[in-house]
Amino acid sequence: MGNNELPRDLIEAMRSAKCVFVFTGAGASKESGLPTFREIDGEWTRHDPMTFATFEGFISNPVKVWNLYRLRQRQIASAQPNPAHTTIAEMEQYYPEFLLCTQNVDDLHERAGSRKIVKLHGDAWQMRCLDCGKIFDTRDFDLPDEFTEETLPKCPKCGGLCRPNIVWFGEYVPHEAMAAALDMVSRCDLMLIVGTSGEVSGGYGFAQQARANGATVVEINPSEGVLTRYAHFWVPEPAGLALPRIWKSVTDRCRAQ
Ligand code: APR
Repeated sequence: MGNNELPRDLIEAMRSAKCVFVFTGAGASKESGLPTFREIDGEWTRHDPMTFATFEGFISNPVKVWNLYRLRQRQIASAQPNPAHTTIAEMEQYYPEFLLCTQNVDDLHERAGSRKIVKLHGDAWQMRCLDCGKIFDTRDFDLPDEFTEETLPKCPKCGGLCRPNIVWFGEYVPHEAMAAALDMVSRCDLMLIVGTSGEVSGGYGFAQQARANGATVVEINPSEGVLTRYAHFWVPEPAGLALPRIWKSVTDRCRAQ
């Protein structure tokens, strides 16, 4: 798609949709300054995912893994939602039925105002007790910026060791989140795929099923990927530029009606 024109069919499909499913990945937070995972400068080129994103890696070195998540928390705290996040939050108000399903563990969607959201991969701010499974927000406790063996976070309820409440490789996505996502995928008439390589957690299946069900599928990503083949429209631009531009065309079209 050229640098300016947006297909009329794309705008019309977005204007007339009634049930919208938005699926986001790390690319949605890239323009907020947070790294993606699989790009050249991504997290998995700097930190071995087997060490930092598996249960085995955590158990063999909880201090090292926790301190990477404490660093990520500081990065997230100093980041701001970008226009991709704020536009998606605006869309939520417009459509009769809407669900945002994010793979991101930052809270930028929430800080931009998104409320109808499921988080497939957990939340970087949360910790979960390995023994009793209770989940806590790390910001409710006076935790050190850097943990040592002695100061690793323990469960306020049972004293068990707490881990980051993140879904790591080889672990299951929370059932409720996936069930909510699959329900919307089966019913949506518009799916927006924003800033994900589609390499994990169902993205592939979401796009395939939505397309097969007759939904209009739109991908916003500067790079082509495994999901692009399912998109009726691929907007090869950064989400923080493309989404507000598309949304302005949709809402201008509404006003003109
Ligand atoms: N706007 C939109 N998309 C972008 C932008 C941008 N400004 N910049 C990069 N992208 C795209 C890249 O082209 C790539 O397709 O974002 C995608 C990022 O892909 P990944 O790094 O694989 O991140 P993601 O798809 O979110 O990974 C999914 O894998 O490692 C796990 O748990 C981790 O949630 C993560 C999951």
